[in-house]
Amino acid sequence: MDSRGLDGVVAAVTQLSRVRGEEGRLTYAGYEIEDLAENATFEETCHLLWFGRLPNRDELEATTRILRRSAPLDPRVLEIIRSAAPRAHPMSVLRTAVSAAGAYDPEGEDGSAGTNLCKGIRLTAQAVTMTAAIGRCRNGEEPIAPREDLGLAANLLYMLRGVLPDEIEARTLDVAFVLHAEHGMNASTFAARIAAATLTDLHSAVVAAIGTLKGPLHGGANEGVMRMLMQIGSVEQAGPWVREALDRRQRIMGFGHRAYRTLDPRAPILRSMAARLQERAGDSKWLRISERVQETMREEMERRDRKIYPNVDFYSASVYYTLGFPMELFTNIFACARMPGWVAHVLEQQRDNRLIRPGSEYAGPDGLRVLPIDERA
Ligand code: ACO
Repeated sequence: MDSRGLDGVVAAVTQLSRVRGEEGRLTYAGYEIEDLAENATFEETCHLLWFGRLPNRDELEATTRILRRSAPLDPRVLEIIRSAAPRAHPMSVLRTAVSAAGAYDPEGEDGSAGTNLCKGIRLTAQAVTMTAAIGRCRNGEEPIAPREDLGLAANLLYMLRGVLPDEIEARTLDVAFVLHAEHGMNASTFAARIAAATLTDLHSAVVAAIGTLKGPLHGGANEGVMRMLMQIGSVEQAGPWVREALDRRQRIMGFGHRAYRTLDPRAPILRSMAARLQERAGDSKWLRISERVQETMREEMERRDRKIYPNVDFYSASVYYTLGFPMELFTNIFACARMPGWVAHVLEQQRDNRLIRPGSEYAGPDGLRVLPIDERA
């Protein structure tokens, strides 16, 4: 069997989410993604993923309180961000900061389920503080401490800008967080589960996930989408640009998905959010370019008989850009949002663990003998 890319291989049994690729449906622990986006906050979604059900009022208050109290960073981690952020890609700095947070965490090497959950909650809150600090240090600005009266999404906007976001901005980012929180056996989650299955520590599993999410074929695509929109520059250029790129066999960022053979259900929600934000700002240039790119891709893919549709990264790019995030931080936002999903998968993997170790088919030479070094070609 050709198992390149493990296409169609079931690598784990999970209760966290279900992706129905042919129908374009996504559910978290039984709830449709559209329902959660409309009616749940990111903090409620975190609770759902970690405890298997939506919280009642008291439970939500407890989860929210611990998340908010966990948000400040160890000053030594902040120092690492300060020294690395001006030079390195924000995802590399986040990966490094999470690794450092693990090294300094007094419970870093405690792998019990209870401690892993506590560390996962801390990391979910701290990734947001780290991302804001990375954004500010890249601009030569001092990091701003998190506020205890804000949710994680609102806090990210506040700590990055130094002013409170309005309700629409805060809720828009909150919904984007909900949409990105979990997605079955995507590459970064698989990386986290492979690491977790060796019984390594939680921070190490998350570091593996962050490094995997960074790639342009996975979470890095949202930054790629924005670069593409800027390169295209105008609605008129969108059609010719996409056709030429396809003729050169270039991949169009924000399109295609291993699991979906139809529209990614998160894409239309993000499209409406981008439309609302840009209408409010009185400039819908990026949305109009995106729509022309989508239209051209629809025509071209139909002509080529290919099932390639927009994915979650396509419209999230214009949402983040309109919210004022620099392009280089887009994938970090994704990482903040996916953190509860990674944590939940690590916990799930370790509840019923078996080392993940697939085979490989050897295709190299056989029967060679080691020659003395002077006799080698
Ligand atoms: N643009 C143009 N052609 C594409 C695209 C695209 N975005 N995606 C796939 N194709 C083509 C490939 O070139 C390939 O063509 P070929 O058979 O002629 O060589 C064919 O479709 C199948 O592609 P695969 O790479 O085998 O499909 P796979 O399921 O492995 O790819 C992936 C999924 C990596 C997401 C791919 O669609 C892609 O590269 N998309 C662009 C990057 C992107 O947006 N990534 C984010 C995905 S969502 C997420 O991770 C959060």
